[in-house]
Amino acid sequence: MDLSVPVFSSSDEVLKKLQEKWSSVKKQPYPAMYSSVFGGIILDPALMVIPIDDHMVHRGHGVFDTAMLMDGHLYELDTHLDRFLRSASQAKISSPFPRSTLRTILIQMTSASQCRKGSLRYWLSAGPGDFLLSPSGCSEPAFYAVVIDDDYSQCKDGVKVITSTVPMKSPLFATMKNVNYLPNVLSKMEAEEKGTFASIWVDDEGYIAEGPNVNVAFITKDKELVLPSFDKILGGCTAKRLLALAPKLVENGRLGSVSTRDITLGEAKDSAEMMFIGSGLPILPIIEWDEQHVGDGMVGELTMALSDLLWEDMLSGPETQRVRVPYV
Ligand SMILES: Cc1ncc(COP(=O)(O)O)c(C=O)c1O
Repeated sequence: MDLSVPVFSSSDEVLKKLQEKWSSVKKQPYPAMYSSVFGGIILDPALMVIPIDDHMVHRGHGVFDTAMLMDGHLYELDTHLDRFLRSASQAKISSPFPRSTLRTILIQMTSASQCRKGSLRYWLSAGPGDFLLSPSGCSEPAFYAVVIDDDYSQCKDGVKVITSTVPMKSPLFATMKNVNYLPNVLSKMEAEEKGTFASIWVDDEGYIAEGPNVNVAFITKDKELVLPSFDKILGGCTAKRLLALAPKLVENGRLGSVSTRDITLGEAKDSAEMMFIGSGLPILPIIEWDEQHVGDGMVGELTMALSDLLWEDMLSGPETQRVRVPYV
């Protein structure tokens, strides 16, 4: 076996290598990326890279957020951007641009991608500099963003979950959407190893917290919609939108009430229906938890009514919720 490691002396050779990986891919999943390090939008996936000395890469000093792209509209972009900047401020990361510029970049990048369905993912980082712990050597913060071309549809089948044994993050780290997702990854892997979809965190006081990248909600036997309060977990944009829309089901008598509060594990396990809530779902029914049926073990009727409300909102909700992308 030849163990001599190639040394690429020209950037052309490296570029060729990077492009080889993509040449066999039928459909390019990332049609555009923005990087403040390049100062523009790129379309070649082989070049969608970030510097190795970026504080986000080697110290996890970065925050991120998302937005769903549905029929050429960015769903809840402003709510996600507000949370993004709150996360950045909690992580002591400044932005290289004002909010309005970040927003314009995201819209222009989506337009350049020509993609109409999928999602955006974007990051603010302390930026490239050196490999030290302090970010003082990182001269400028960085903003990165990517468009992900993806198809998705309303979730109609229920999934199984377990209670996570992986310790959850403390409130400071759970309430900001930072890039340190190792507990979340391990919690998801634990669920998959047990043949289930995802796991549920319960906090050290015994109250329900959230899933690894989703919020969780319950319908009690008295037809109350309850969600754990957001003080120790991520304030989900989808969950907050659901809280705004669900009172419609109270008005027509299908739901008794809508609230956020502390929910014990015992109360949660006794609920009639259970669901995950998050961007890209927007609602996923849960039918089994720790090998026990949730309610009657079938996809809940009220869960699906709530899913319809959110799905409708994503497809044809008010202009304030859906930013139209001007494609050229
Ligand atoms: C830990 C965690 N909780 C909840 C959510 C759901 O939030 P959203 O509805 O804004 O996607 C996410 C996903 O962003 C998450 O990572």
